[in-house]
Amino acid sequence: ELGDYSHYMQKEIFEQPQALSNTLEMISGAGQLQPGIFGAEAAEIFQQVDSVLILACGTSSYAGMTAKYWIEQVAGIPCNVEIASEYRYRHSVPNPTQLVVVISQSGETADTLAALHHAKAQGHTFTLAICNVPESAIVRETALRFITRAGPEIGVASTKAFTTQLSALFLLTLLLAKANQRLSDDAEKAYLDELRHLPIAVDKVLALEPSIEAWSQHFANKHHALFLGRGRHYPIALEGALKLKEISYIHAEAYPAGELKHGPLALVDSEMPVVVVAPNDEMLEKLKANMQEVSARGGQLYVFADGGSAVKSSDGVNVLLMPEHYGLLSPVLHVVALQLLSYHVALVKGTDVDKPRNLAKSVTVE
Ligand code: M6R
Repeated sequence: ELGDYSHYMQKEIFEQPQALSNTLEMISGAGQLQPGIFGAEAAEIFQQVDSVLILACGTSSYAGMTAKYWIEQVAGIPCNVEIASEYRYRHSVPNPTQLVVVISQSGETADTLAALHHAKAQGHTFTLAICNVPESAIVRETALRFITRAGPEIGVASTKAFTTQLSALFLLTLLLAKANQRLSDDAEKAYLDELRHLPIAVDKVLALEPSIEAWSQHFANKHHALFLGRGRHYPIALEGALKLKEISYIHAEAYPAGELKHGPLALVDSEMPVVVVAPNDEMLEKLKANMQEVSARGGQLYVFADGGSAVKSSDGVNVLLMPEHYGLLSPVLHVVALQLLSYHVALVKGTDVDKPRNLAKSVTVE
């Protein structure tokens, strides 16, 4: 079943272009998005929605955090993301016109399912599941649904489920923007073209594997690593850190880079690799100043930049150029590079990549 691959995780990382094109198949020839892709009642519900609440765990929650940046910027409606295991026990203030989105690869995560029950018990009826398993518990209990078509994900570390969740959340963003009269026909066409090109763009990131593999040697003997990002790439830094922790057992933390001097900078020395997600976006100049803070303390930077970022390699500054700059969808490309990094670090360390210690693929108990 593994074919030419050594692990399911590697296979699933490389399946991402296909997983994305399968998930996006319904827009392959479309000039306009139809809300019906989220369910028969979607058109009516999206018209009434005044805000979004996303509930999820782990990697799925980072997909939600990325979507928060998209939804508020493009659709212009408030969006909050909450860890399902917290929300389910919290006294929150329900809003009946809020869209509650549960995101789960498996659709069986106990806390996410319980969070959905909690939301419904509080009177929420506008519920949407984004899930990779059509017959799962979560999907059966929501008014709306979108099934990602990543195919079975065997590796405990989530990879293709995450990028397909992101593609689904971008479709949701566009539909909410349309319902909110925030999306011109031209903008819609341009975004759809970008989505359709995504599998090709991801393919080009996968071609960077040899350079990323070379970097992995520098991480394998370290005990700690820091991941930095800003804006919509902050959740990608979180996801990169989670991947490294899960499969290589290296302690990794992620920060929005502006937080560095509020504490974590104290950890930085020459033994601390610092991974930076640094595309040429509106936060880049701020991020460069943060990188300078790391360099000044002897920290070793590993920067995922792109052609427009103008970050130069030098002593202590390692730069890898992503093949394309991808605007709002750039998180999808950057996470693939971070998946490859953690995979190769784990290979050097010789850990059980597909079944890391202490973890289960589907967390069906609290
Ligand atoms: O099946 P789900 O998406 O609900 O799972 C949520 C988390 O358990 C999952 O994403 C976990 O964090 C992964 N092991 C991350 O790689």
